[in-house]
Amino acid sequence: MPIIQLKQLTKKYKDAIVVNNLEFSVKDGEFFALLGENGAGKTTLISMLCGILAPTNGDAILLGESILSNVEKIKPKINISPQETAIATNLTVRENLEFIAGIYGSSKREAKIKASEMLELFHLTEKEKAKAKTLSGGMQRRLNLAMGLITNPQIFFLDEPTLGLDVRSRRELWGNLAKLKGKTTIILTTHYLEEAEELADCICILQRGSLKALGTVDELKQQTNAESFEEAFLAICDGEVDVYA
Ligand SMILES: Nc1ncnc2c1ncn2[C@@H]1O[C@H](COP(=O)(O)OP(=O)(O)OP(=O)(O)O)[C@@H](O)[C@H]1O
Ligand SMILES: [Mg+2]
Repeated sequence: MPIIQLKQLTKKYKDAIVVNNLEFSVKDGEFFALLGENGAGKTTLISMLCGILAPTNGDAILLGESILSNVEKIKPKINISPQETAIATNLTVRENLEFIAGIYGSSKREAKIKASEMLELFHLTEKEKAKAKTLSGGMQRRLNLAMGLITNPQIFFLDEPTLGLDVRSRRELWGNLAKLKGKTTIILTTHYLEEAEELADCICILQRGSLKALGTVDELKQQTNAESFEEAFLAICDGEVDVYA
């Protein structure tokens, strides 16, 4: 059974259809890259799947439950690292982590242990006592990701996690994400195509809210006769081809 199944999922603002009748599914454990140019509808789609935004039409089934009727059952099992970082700036780095772990049901002791693990994984141990507002932008993003992962989500949504990270941090983050492969289902949006190319099992391309392509990097390249993934991506976004492998 797919872990996520979209059923004619649609979001409209007045006359503008920003997510248009989407129907596709994501397999358990899949690393799923959601791509598309600015305004394609990626963040809107993710917000609906996480129960932050109500669809105008359609539904999605996550972990067997509907986002329309049972979103409260879904929420504890998923997490999101949003495009706009969502950290408590007046708490320290460690306090942010322990706070989130606590909300998701960890005991104080467990929260401490998990926070230490995350600090190490994201190279933030040195900063554990610093107020989050004093971190650099890239460090705030890393903290934001650690706060997502500390809850052991079955589905982890990452909306442009590498935006603003320096080259080394981005590479390290890719390494961290690669380690999660197969353990957690990951839905990733990014404008770095090489990131999707390196990590994703399945690529989904949206254009103006509609599904334009779904398949592996190789399938998309083959079907657009492209030399590179970037060439394939641009051809698909230009509307030259729809690719459903
Ligand atoms: N509250 C809103 N009211 C009206 N239009 C909205 C609203 N929120 C988003 N939109 C529109 O929906 C479309 C999709 O926006 P969305 O943020 O989902 O795009 P995105 O694919 O995440 O883009 P980016 O790559 O820039 O993050 C855009 O045209 C945007 O202007
Ligand atoms: Mg976005």
